[in-house]
Amino acid sequence: MSTDSPDHSTTAETVSSDPVDQVINYHIRTKHHFNRYARSLGFLDWVNQPDPFRRYEGAQLFPLPLLEADEEPVSPAYEAIYEYGRVPCQPVSLSALSRFFEFALALSAWKKAGDSEWALRMNPSSGNLHPTEGYVVLPELVGLDLKPGLYHYAPKEHGLEFRAEFSVELIARLLAPFPVGAFLFGLTSIHWREAWKYGERAFRYCNHDVGHAIGTARIAAATLGWQMTLLDAVDQNTVALLLGTNRTDDFADVEAEHPDCLAVLWPVRDVKGETLDVKREEGSEIPLFLDATIVKELADGTWHGKANRLSGEHGVHWDIIDEVADASWKTQADNRTIALAAGSVSASPTLHASRATSNAGTIIRQRRSAVAFDGKTAISSATFFHMMQRVLPRPDRPQLERPMPWDVWPYDPAIHLVIFVHRVDGLTPGLYVLVRDTKKLAFVQQSMNPELTWTIAPGCPDGLPLYRLFEGDARKLAVQVSCQQDIAGDSAFSFGMLAEFEGTLRERGAWWYPRMFWESGLLGQVLYLEAEAAGVRATGIGCFFDDPVHEIVGIKNLTLQSLYHFTIGGPVEDGRLQTLPPYGHVKREG
Ligand SMILES: Cc1cc2nc3c(=O)[nH]c(=O)nc-3n(C[C@H](O)[C@H](O)[C@H](O)COP(=O)(O)O)c2cc1C
Repeated sequence: MSTDSPDHSTTAETVSSDPVDQVINYHIRTKHHFNRYARSLGFLDWVNQPDPFRRYEGAQLFPLPLLEADEEPVSPAYEAIYEYGRVPCQPVSLSALSRFFEFALALSAWKKAGDSEWALRMNPSSGNLHPTEGYVVLPELVGLDLKPGLYHYAPKEHGLEFRAEFSVELIARLLAPFPVGAFLFGLTSIHWREAWKYGERAFRYCNHDVGHAIGTARIAAATLGWQMTLLDAVDQNTVALLLGTNRTDDFADVEAEHPDCLAVLWPVRDVKGETLDVKREEGSEIPLFLDATIVKELADGTWHGKANRLSGEHGVHWDIIDEVADASWKTQADNRTIALAAGSVSASPTLHASRATSNAGTIIRQRRSAVAFDGKTAISSATFFHMMQRVLPRPDRPQLERPMPWDVWPYDPAIHLVIFVHRVDGLTPGLYVLVRDTKKLAFVQQSMNPELTWTIAPGCPDGLPLYRLFEGDARKLAVQVSCQQDIAGDSAFSFGMLAEFEGTLRERGAWWYPRMFWESGLLGQVLYLEAEAAGVRATGIGCFFDDPVHEIVGIKNLTLQSLYHFTIGGPVEDGRLQTLPPYGHVKREG
């Protein structure tokens, strides 16, 4: 593999100063080609492997209780989290927060091979490098014995580090437009962690991981009966101020954190089913923005801690990652509001497969990426259709009435799937397309080879926009375009996620670029869990040859671009690895 090619010369130096051109340039430059991978070091600099655990030295750590599965709050049935109002709503207590962080970002196990040991987490991550850091902004809440302020989640300790103390009154004013009990959740990325291994393509992977973490957080909240939405009308300077990533002294001489997003969470009902938020009536709205003046005042509060250094040295600094991060920086804020769901929300679309009865916590904890598939296991077409329905966001509904987790996402779907069906009983192997928003059908068809015939997939439930394009054995093709990874062909099916690309970037702006990856990561997270619930297993695939994927369906320009691949099937375990419990290393006093 050559990591150094003259073709890279159409780069940042020669590109226009338009941020949209810059992100498009980054995207083109970081494509993998059959004869050339995106630029990276080409070897692993083990001595400088980044520490996967950020800590803030000098910030007090508040340990969260390590809860057994049968301790309160106990997980609901997996299916129940998709049905609005079925999960008893928990008040925001220390144990509920502990459960939230456990399911969102905690360790799920340690793996051991010989002398090496590494942790896995509830959220997957490209190369298990975990660039994503989690934060919570807490107001003064009855029953929560934590001071109001900003906390960083420390996954190894399962604790909250107290980064900043916020005035009770100011934080109450910031959260006043939201339902009673609301608090904020934030994500940042340490690009260096991914760049260390993957070089220039790393910005893509960091954003996939943000999408997965939005998914784990939304699903964790659903197990507690909480609602959640991204606050994406906020500008990124405000995110930086609130999460403290702009505090140069706290990050002096260490790896920077890139502020990604903020979300608000709130408990919807109490356990008796009464709406907790007595202030609100049917039809009220919540903002998707924060008052930037209050955030500025909060940021003047008292801060604690200095970030730790993750790598001794950085052999190469990948400037293009800083450039694309700057170009896609969201400078604008707006005043978007959304309707609060008034409790009349119907359940997710009728689903057609008999389902496992596991509880949600069991599925979340057991989620793993398959390292290999058996090349044999088939799933039923009912299971396959069920999975496809789970990723339909129902854009015809108001945001908070869309099926979980799509209610977190304040945009219409802009990702469609091109699916290689290998082993789905009752469905002929071949190439299929799922159009996740039927309004986009003509656009998707026009972006592909006009000679393709689009036939509704036989047996497909009503309302599932799943089309067959070709019949035939697509296993070799799937492997070939997935950087020759057998996991794409030995599974029951694999697919590429096609984003509506250049049009949306030109219309919305360069800040949309990371969000395309967030949506694809969120979609992947839904299917990681669906695979576990169906008794099979999934793996995200960040390594694929971009344009050869496009050629399969005749995409000739940048209207649609494949951003992420995914595969689901019967896993083969790696028997050489030992699995240890996630928090065996932590001692808590009784
Ligand atoms: C964005 C993303 C891209 C990934 N790409 C690949 C890939 O190309 N090949 C692969 O075998 N695994 C891939 N994975 C799986 C990761 O290696 C896996 O999530 C990580 O090792 C952690 O293991 P876990 O998912 O079992 O917790 C990817 C995961 C993510 C989230």
